[in-house]
Formats: sequence, structure tokens, C-alpha cells
Amino acid sequence: MTTIEIPGRVYDRIHRRMRRLPPALCEHCQRVEQIARGLCEKHGQDADAVGLAALAHDATKHFSGAENLLRMEDYDLPPVTDYERRNPAILHGMVGAELLKREDGLSHPQLYDAIYWHTTGNPTGGDTIGHIIFLADKLDPVKRKRYPWQPEMGELAETDLPGAVVMFLTRNIARFLDKEKPVHPAAIEARNALLLAAESG
Ligand SMILES: [Fe+2]
Ligand SMILES: [Fe+2]
Repeated sequence: MTTIEIPGRVYDRIHRRMRRLPPALCEHCQRVEQIARGLCEKHGQDADAVGLAALAHDATKHFSGAENLLRMEDYDLPPVTDYERRNPAILHGMVGAELLKREDGLSHPQLYDAIYWHTTGNPTGGDTIGHIIFLADKLDPVKRKRYPWQPEMGELAETDLPGAVVMFLTRNIARFLDKEKPVHPAAIEARNALLLAAESG
């Protein structure tokens, strides 16, 4: 297992920040941390570091859409697309990753990327840590109604993280297609990248 060194003051700042969130959001983040820790044990990842990033993943979920759009600009993050301008809530992963880096010192690149892409999926396919945080968020039991395939996905995640991410993306994209709604391109790219990697692997 590769250990990710995180200074104690970073843990303290993030824990303090998360305690100040609206209670329902704070509880979601705590459940996601526990699910992520469980997946870390199964997949040989640093449960303390990945658990911290899982706890922090929705640090800015309570921001308004307007706030997200302003922060994207202030932080010099990539230009917002039309899709994102109309659905600015989706930007909370990107804004959160950057805020946690700037304000709390959570700068490890794998943890940054995992938080940055946790809403859509990582267009490069992502790595094990990214998959764990992505799936832990979708496996919160509170989301069972929205994602009825959650039990199968949870089972698959124990042995095949990329497979479970593909299962999620396939079914969730289908949900959007059924409703004739647009899909964030990163979700399509993430799924393509994982399917291509599985074919060539
Ligand atoms: Fe989120
Ligand atoms: Fe979340």
C-alpha cells in the first residue's frame, strides 16, 4: 500500500470545515468516508488519506450555482461550458477540490483529481483512488431510490472498481437519455476510457 502523507493540520482544518456544513450534507460526507474506508481496505489503499478526501468531497455542495460560477473564474479553472452554466451545481466537485487545496492545504494530486471529478467521472478514466471516492459517493444508502442498481454496484465494487464505475455511468447516462436530458461530456468520456482500457487490458 502506498501511504499518502497528510499533515495533521490539514486533517484538523478539514474536519473543522466539515463540522460546519448543513447537518444532512455533513452526515452524507461521513457515510461516504466510511464506505470509502471499507473500499480502501479491500483494494489496498491508504484509508486515512482517501477517507479524508471522501469526507471532504462535498465541501462546497451547499454553494449556490452563482457562487460556483464565480469561483470557477476566480480560481482560474477551465472555462465553463454551456452545459455547466445551465447546471452549475455540477461544478461543486471542481470548486471543492480547488478550495480544499487553497484554503486547507489538501494538495495531493490524486486526492485533488478524485474530488474534482467525483460528480461526472474522470474523462481519462481515473485511478483507483478516484474510483473509490466516486463509487463511495454513489453508494450512500440515501441514494438507493435514485440509483436502484446500487446493491449490484456495491457488490461489484468489492472486486472490480472500474467495472463498478462503468456500471454506474452506463445506467446513469441511460437515465438521462430516457428523460431526453443532456449528459455531461466527462461522463461519456470517462465511460469510453474505462471500456477501452478494459478491452486493451
Ligand atoms: Fe458531490
Ligand atoms: Fe456527495
